[in-house]
Amino acid sequence: MLAASLRDQFGEIDIYLFDQCLRGRFDGRRRVLDAGCGDGRNLEFLLRQGVECFGVDQDSRAIRRITARAAALAPTLSPDHFQVAELDRLPFADGAMDAVLASAVLHFAADADHFGRMVTELWRVLAPGGLLFARLASTIGIESATGPAGRRVRLPDGSDRFVVDEPMLLDWTARLGGALLDPLKTTNVQGMRCMTTWVVGKPAGPALQSRA
Ligand SMILES: C[S@@+](CC[C@H](N)C(=O)[O-])C[C@H]1O[C@@H](n2cnc3c(N)ncnc32)[C@H](O)[C@@H]1O
Repeated sequence: MLAASLRDQFGEIDIYLFDQCLRGRFDGRRRVLDAGCGDGRNLEFLLRQGVECFGVDQDSRAIRRITARAAALAPTLSPDHFQVAELDRLPFADGAMDAVLASAVLHFAADADHFGRMVTELWRVLAPGGLLFARLASTIGIESATGPAGRRVRLPDGSDRFVVDEPMLLDWTARLGGALLDPLKTTNVQGMRCMTTWVVGKPAGPALQSRA
């Protein structure tokens, strides 16, 4: 009963994204892109709230599913908002989005170069003042099992993932010119894998000069 009621409102939203919503981080954000959206579980709540949502995924079946879900939840939203695309080639203009989500996607990078291209592209489409929310596999807390970050490894749970660590995420935050909005938070699943939440703010542009 309780669970059903929660699901009615929030769907299967990622708990760490839910936490960001609870803390007001999505208040007033009009355009939100879910990059690597899958079937769109993380957009369901935002769609219900009337946020202008966009989704891309390399898998056309996933795009069909999110398009159908969005049509039911937000019938006035154009189906063009959901497209097959690669994260390192996003079909959006610079600064088009107020927030970008990449939940359980960046760890599918082929290598460090691919990871960098994807992160740079997510950042490109983010508007000044925008928010990047990413969850991804890391070595944090399981270094002895994974070895160094910045490459694909076999995790103790048997999956192959590109893994990051704290210095790498802090370095990328600085390279992008962003600011961590939260300390890095990592969930260690009993030594089998670790998922880190990386929340970065893009600085707002310089204040408009008032005309004399
Ligand atoms: C584990 S699912 C996560 C889906 C969703 N973000 C969520 O949290 O439920 C990973 C998704 O990322 C997509 N994906 C992986 N690499 C991608 C890439 N380079 N470009 C676009 N989509 C990608 C996959 O097709 C898949 O739908």
